[in-house]
Amino acid sequence: MGIAIVTGASSGLGWEFVQQLSRNYPHLEEIWAVARRKERLERLQEKCNVKIRPVCLDLTEEAALKELESMLCRERKKVCFLINCAGFGKTGGAGQIKWQSQAEMCRLNTEALTAVTCIALPYMVQRGRILEASSSAAFLPQPGFAAYAASKSYVLSFSRALHQEMKPRRITVTAVCPGPMRTEFFLRASGKAELSGIKRYFMAKPGKVAAKALRDASRGKDISVYGISMKLLRAASKALPHALLLPLVRLVSWENTEK
Ligand SMILES: NC(=O)c1ccc[n+]([C@@H]2O[C@H](COP(=O)([O-])OP(=O)(O)OC[C@H]3O[C@@H](n4cnc5c(N)ncnc54)[C@H](OP(=O)(O)O)[C@@H]3O)[C@@H](O)[C@H]2O)c1
Repeated sequence: MGIAIVTGASSGLGWEFVQQLSRNYPHLEEIWAVARRKERLERLQEKCNVKIRPVCLDLTEEAALKELESMLCRERKKVCFLINCAGFGKTGGAGQIKWQSQAEMCRLNTEALTAVTCIALPYMVQRGRILEASSSAAFLPQPGFAAYAASKSYVLSFSRALHQEMKPRRITVTAVCPGPMRTEFFLRASGKAELSGIKRYFMAKPGKVAAKALRDASRGKDISVYGISMKLLRAASKALPHALLLPLVRLVSWENTEK
């Protein structure tokens, strides 16, 4: 068998994916766990039977992407799974958040994800699986989370198009679109560990989101949505005019942000 590559493996969703891959696919040769915090990546080995290779990279840097590319080129590994979870959000008005943070966020959520995917594609096996962390924020624009939601719409669109492009190679590409999850995400997004406002009632466990995403990928789905509330949100975003929904979204998301 070949390897799995998981970005954003040092916490949250990526951390869960690594452990579930190790449990469900014990014949994987290695899991390359990518993130910046080395000590966290090293701790993964205690929880996994498959060999974990910590790959300590800041994916917003071009040199890091080139490093990943040369690792694959040098070692000629076959890639069975690519799971892109590295990402972050920043809540607040687009005029209030530093442009540098918003640009860095777009670089990680869209550019780095695209680059890592394209770097891995030549090494993907037939019937390989790619899972891209998008979000339920991709379904509708989000005032108070504008650049983040736009970056996740990019991921959703990119993944679905790539899913079609990959049909001849029987590679599935699944956009994972969770609602709020209990991870370190909101600490980085807002500086607060606990969510206030309506979103806190819809918090999901990252382990459940990861398990459903792996099931959906093995069924060949191009999108994975966890939980009835997020499924309803997606249905509403397709059925109702966005001009009607956006003022509601503004009320819900704006209450969490500094104006
Ligand atoms: N939590 C939610 O409510 C939620 C909802 C929908 C979608 N998502 C998406 O799900 C994905 C995973 O988020 P999460 O909830 O698991 O958040 P998290 O716990 O904060 O994990 C984010 C991961 O990204 C890595 N990362 C951040 N900046 C990086 C960089 N410059 N280079 C390399 N790695 C970097 C972090 O590792 P290091 O800090 O060690 O580098 C960490 O492993 C993200 O794409 C997020 O947008 C999250």
